[in-house]
Amino acid sequence: MSNKQDHAQWSSSFGFVLAAVGSAVGLGNIWKFPYMVGESGGAVFVITYLFCIALIGFPILVAEWLIGRRGQKNPINSFEDVAASEGKSRAWGIVGGAGILGGFIVLSFYSVIGGWALNYVTKIGSGSFVGQNSDAVAAVFDAMLASPGTLTIWHTVFMALTAIIVGVGVAGGIEKAAKVLMPLLGVILLVILGYNILNGGFGQAVSYLFTPDMSKMNSGVLLAALGHAFFTLSLGMGIMVAYGSYMGREFNLLKTARTVIILDTVFALAAGLAIFPIIFVNGLDPAAGPGLIFVSLPIAFGSMTGGTLIGTLFFLLITFAALTSSISLLEPSVEFLEERTSLNRTMSTIVASVVIWLLGVAALLSFNLWSEFTIMGNGVFDLLDKLTSKFMLPLTGLAAIIFVGWVLAQDSIKAELGMSDGAWKAWQIVAKFIAPIGVVIVFISSLIGAA
Ligand code: PFF
Repeated sequence: MSNKQDHAQWSSSFGFVLAAVGSAVGLGNIWKFPYMVGESGGAVFVITYLFCIALIGFPILVAEWLIGRRGQKNPINSFEDVAASEGKSRAWGIVGGAGILGGFIVLSFYSVIGGWALNYVTKIGSGSFVGQNSDAVAAVFDAMLASPGTLTIWHTVFMALTAIIVGVGVAGGIEKAAKVLMPLLGVILLVILGYNILNGGFGQAVSYLFTPDMSKMNSGVLLAALGHAFFTLSLGMGIMVAYGSYMGREFNLLKTARTVIILDTVFALAAGLAIFPIIFVNGLDPAAGPGLIFVSLPIAFGSMTGGTLIGTLFFLLITFAALTSSISLLEPSVEFLEERTSLNRTMSTIVASVVIWLLGVAALLSFNLWSEFTIMGNGVFDLLDKLTSKFMLPLTGLAAIIFVGWVLAQDSIKAELGMSDGAWKAWQIVAKFIAPIGVVIVFISSLIGAA
């Protein structure tokens, strides 16, 4: 398409923040964060995660934007061109390629969960959970997982919606809708919080989320927290490099990163406070895994006044939040096919979507027909999740921060970030040492822990 030459730019910093928040806030915050907290022992995970976000996620987010803004192209070309402009190897393009591949894999299982959320819109909307106890609600979830047909239908619908939006390229529409819908999601989370305060379990949830029991700390928790920091900020997938490429010079990267990170974290913590009180009051297992929000929230919606409406709206908004993320995951693969093959945009979208869809079907079968099939103890779904969150994303992000902290000329970065001498020293310590060494330490400790 011709608009690749006259590279578009974000119209306002608000529009950019919104798009970046739209990509960052998604299933990772509302579905994944709470269940990871539950699986990894509560507050120890939360605190580790907050450290990872501040000391590793923040500088890498800034680094990815900086590379994209300098390169003004897709992630592969941006890395290549920025490296070449400073006389470094064009092989840095591989990092962009690894990112695109990571996003491709993430979307396959992301779409399966987006499908669950869509399915729950219809289930709650039809009043299926009204007056049901926790066992009945859990049985509905188990029945969904046991049915390859149901999972495939909803995965297909979600993937088709993603493909249509990307294919048509209605970015303007999505941006406008996000302006209304994301705040609405925040409001509904507040309604659930209010319900929880009235119905008990709130204090217990707060201490579960914020009072760490250090005896639960181990290398697995560290790696999970690091991986999630990448996942939730959409790092290590070329997405933020691509977004940066539409960014004008006038943007303040540090301030924008701070805003995006704060909003992303607020959504995750609010989701935790919406979910855990219900878990405790109903005697459910916080370590229930990926089904956590699907077995906890419907109980609350089934018993609160207006719960059918609020619940339907809630799962609709989660689906929407997931769509603003999934389109950002599909775009780089489509752009890559469009630029590097003879396929046009429509065909590129169809080809990428079909392959991702197929991988998603393999992932969803691991909940039923293929449940016996495991590789190193993981079904296909877990394997794709772990491969990306725990390995591909952190390693790609590590390469990005090494590129910015060590490979590129530092003077121009100081000027570009508009930093005072003091702030620049702090940045250098974080970007050159803390962030990369942090990622490496987590990796090594997890390898030792696994041995
Ligand atoms: N950050 C999104 C979430 O937390 O749900 C997921 C995601 C979107 C990951 C886009 C990666 C990405 F490129």
